[in-house]
Amino acid sequence: MCGIIGVTGTDGALDVIFEGLRRLEYRGYDSAGVALVDGATLWRRRAADGTHSVDDLVQTAGAAPGGATTGIGHTRWATHGGPTPENAHPHLDCTGQLALVHNGIIENHAELRVPLEGRGHVFRSQTDTEVLVHLVEEELAAGAGLAEALRRALGAVRGAFSVVVVSANEPDVVAAGRRSVPLLAAVGEGTGLVASDISALVGRAERYFALEDDQVAEVRPGSLRVVDLAGGPVEPTAVVVDPAWDVEAAQKAGFDDFMTKEIHEQPRAVADTLLDRRGPDGALVIDELRVPVDDLRAVDKVVVVACGSSYHAGMVAKYAIERWARLPAEVEIASELRYRDPVLHERTLVVGVSQSGETLDTLEALREARRSGAPTVIVSNVVHATMAREADGVLYTRAGPEVSVASTKCHLAQIVALDLLALVLAQWRGTMGPAAVGAELDRLQRLPALVEDALGRAKDVDAVADALAGARDYFFLGRHVGFPVALEGALKLKEISYLRAEGYPAGELKHGPLALVEPGVVVVAVLEPLQDKMRSNIAEAVARGATVVVVAPDGADVAGLGDHVLRVPRVDDPILAPVVTVVPLQLLAYALARRLGNDVDRPRNLAKTVTVE
Ligand code: G6P
Repeated sequence: MCGIIGVTGTDGALDVIFEGLRRLEYRGYDSAGVALVDGATLWRRRAADGTHSVDDLVQTAGAAPGGATTGIGHTRWATHGGPTPENAHPHLDCTGQLALVHNGIIENHAELRVPLEGRGHVFRSQTDTEVLVHLVEEELAAGAGLAEALRRALGAVRGAFSVVVVSANEPDVVAAGRRSVPLLAAVGEGTGLVASDISALVGRAERYFALEDDQVAEVRPGSLRVVDLAGGPVEPTAVVVDPAWDVEAAQKAGFDDFMTKEIHEQPRAVADTLLDRRGPDGALVIDELRVPVDDLRAVDKVVVVACGSSYHAGMVAKYAIERWARLPAEVEIASELRYRDPVLHERTLVVGVSQSGETLDTLEALREARRSGAPTVIVSNVVHATMAREADGVLYTRAGPEVSVASTKCHLAQIVALDLLALVLAQWRGTMGPAAVGAELDRLQRLPALVEDALGRAKDVDAVADALAGARDYFFLGRHVGFPVALEGALKLKEISYLRAEGYPAGELKHGPLALVEPGVVVVAVLEPLQDKMRSNIAEAVARGATVVVVAPDGADVAGLGDHVLRVPRVDDPILAPVVTVVPLQLLAYALARRLGNDVDRPRNLAKTVTVE
């Protein structure tokens, strides 16, 4: 997803912008650009050469204006208009004095463009964004200052945006606005910055702020002024930057890539998410939850909304919520929930799950839930994320920054965070006594060591990956909580290896997909739980000549079950097993993708944080 950085009052502005763009690369992008205010003119460079645009941009930047202290940079993930240099941001107005970058989608761009063209504006791209720069241009021509012009222009716009502008006529100003798309500001001694996320800002300033929806910021060296869209002054929301979110944390720490680093950080991510969850009396406490206990006691249904790997974590949680809290639980793809007529009310607990806390579909589903009067809780990995600010309650995963597009450590942390939520509901509803809750917490505490153990078996996975070289079709099968594990295994494989992979509930195999099973097809089967039923389904695949890989707990009898066995440590409670059984599937996807020479951190066509519908 697009990344934005803007700086002012900064010596070597171009280097700061390039460094910021590199730190934002993990969001996914296909082109990049920069603009600097150079005296009374603007200097701009753009590049759109596949996946290495920031590097290309650095190469092609050439003789940049030496003394520039103000500028903007952008990494673009194409939505409207292909990934070409012409469509890359920054976009300039007709005078060439104004440069603008944008993340999000302007929904009414087509209707705005016609009258602008009628008034003589010349468009040079196919983007939805370009209308913005011409709208700001008109407000400037009418006499407004830069921030004021941006504020007025945004009044005409429908959609989601974070947008940043600089002008050669106001060389000490960066103006920025947002709606539904994250934008942070930072102020230091004689400097001011804005960026899409904190990783581009840490270490560059003393004070950090999050812009809220429909706010416009005027950033000058050492100062920040924020107004709402009506022009009224507002106090910006200060954010505390966790010391762990430093540049160091965003480095690969000796691993070949972020994905393998993050896979190996999973025991820590799980342990940290479980940290400090017991009160003095041994009861489960979730400090940040914020929703009054009485409201939670009154809940009669839980609806979990999420996308991607977060959705799969939600599917695992369904089993825990139903078993422990005895509440009906639905899990819904966020982009689907929004557009039906969901039956939500003040006794429906709506739980959003999002690594980034910014995924637009999940954000809007939560907003829909709030409009229905339902209490909302977000399981987020990012403390200052929009969803974490807007939801009634929060439950933080403490996985640290996740850079690789394919989620791994956040997925595991989400599962245990949701287990905690299920347990706290059970505790308050009285469906589990203190001893039972305590015993389950003890089992959760044993998970980090079991994940470590599973990671220690990576060599077994490598051997299987070698044996599977050349296979192109995969089915992942599981039952009960093994089903979301199968879905996640298939998702990981397709995301980074580009191989065809489908996850299925094993019992469904005979209702369709079995027709596709033949020699050369690989079936990866998660044996636990419901081992006996799984054995029958595995036999169906073996009989059709598939190459079968079984993920089996230590001690399980696997005689005659398949071609390859990946052993995992046994977990006391099958509900918790996904935290361990998904690990070999992550490693398998990684091993196969590496053998194919793919960039595992930045798979083609995908983005880390998806802020469009
Ligand atoms: C993108 C990422 C996935 C992630 C999904 C949901 O598709 O590539 O890894 O699972 O978004 O993101 P979220 O930040 O809401 O968990």
